[in-house]
Amino acid sequence: MTLPRIQVKNFSFSFPDENSPLWTNLNFSLNPGEIVGITGPSGCGKSTLCYCLSGIIPRHLPGEISGEILVDGKPLSQVPLPQLSQKIGMVFQDPETQLFCTTVEEEIAFGPENLCLSREEIETRIKEVLELTGMTHFRYTNPSQLSGGEKQLIALGAVLALGPHTLILDEAMSQLDTAGRKRVQKIIRPLKKAGKSLIIVDHQIENLISSDRVLHLENGQASWR
Ligand SMILES: Nc1ncnc2c1ncn2[C@@H]1O[C@H](COP(=O)(O)OP(=O)(O)OP(=O)(O)O)[C@@H](O)[C@H]1O
Ligand SMILES: [Mg+2]
Repeated sequence: MTLPRIQVKNFSFSFPDENSPLWTNLNFSLNPGEIVGITGPSGCGKSTLCYCLSGIIPRHLPGEISGEILVDGKPLSQVPLPQLSQKIGMVFQDPETQLFCTTVEEEIAFGPENLCLSREEIETRIKEVLELTGMTHFRYTNPSQLSGGEKQLIALGAVLALGPHTLILDEAMSQLDTAGRKRVQKIIRPLKKAGKSLIIVDHQIENLISSDRVLHLENGQASWR
């Protein structure tokens, strides 16, 4: 039996000083090559769940947790951040929060440089992800000059450059036009084929056609669609 990339076990979460948990006893697994969609109305906790799955909660944002999340069979809380960033990559709902360099190239090189990869390997990854995201012509552009959708594609590229086995896309297509969405769909298919696992959040279930299963969150309850 293959080990799931992520296992969520009886997981409940509430922000500090909130009376009721955002959800209780959430259970699901994400297998290699699987795409799980997450949908639900605004405020149901989709982004919060993404933060939990990528380790941002509780490392950087506090909250009350019960149950556990396993990554490759190990408690997520015990996986050191440099290792975690090579396992799980997240594209944030607001790409502005994720981009901070003065060129697209630096943005994509930032993660691999922190992993101390060789210059040649970093160059290979920059070229690969720019080609995959269709952003090669923006290599030397300042990300602040890009549109929201283009920023989302650069944020996706920066995450892909770390080579994670799991990608979490939190409304990562929200600012893309039809052509941009098609481009992301075109990227998703080969990633799945290559065995990557994906969690794709979108409040419109129509945008989750590539998902194998869709988890609907509402009023603290989770159901499969
Ligand atoms: N840091 C925080 N502290 C306290 N409450 C928070 C915090 N961040 C979010 N919340 C609340 O938690 C709930 C879930 O927020 P979240 O952003 O996860 O929802 P969402 O489903 O992603 O919504 P959207 O579809 O608008 O992106 C909301 O009621 C929000 O106000
Ligand atoms: Mg959200």
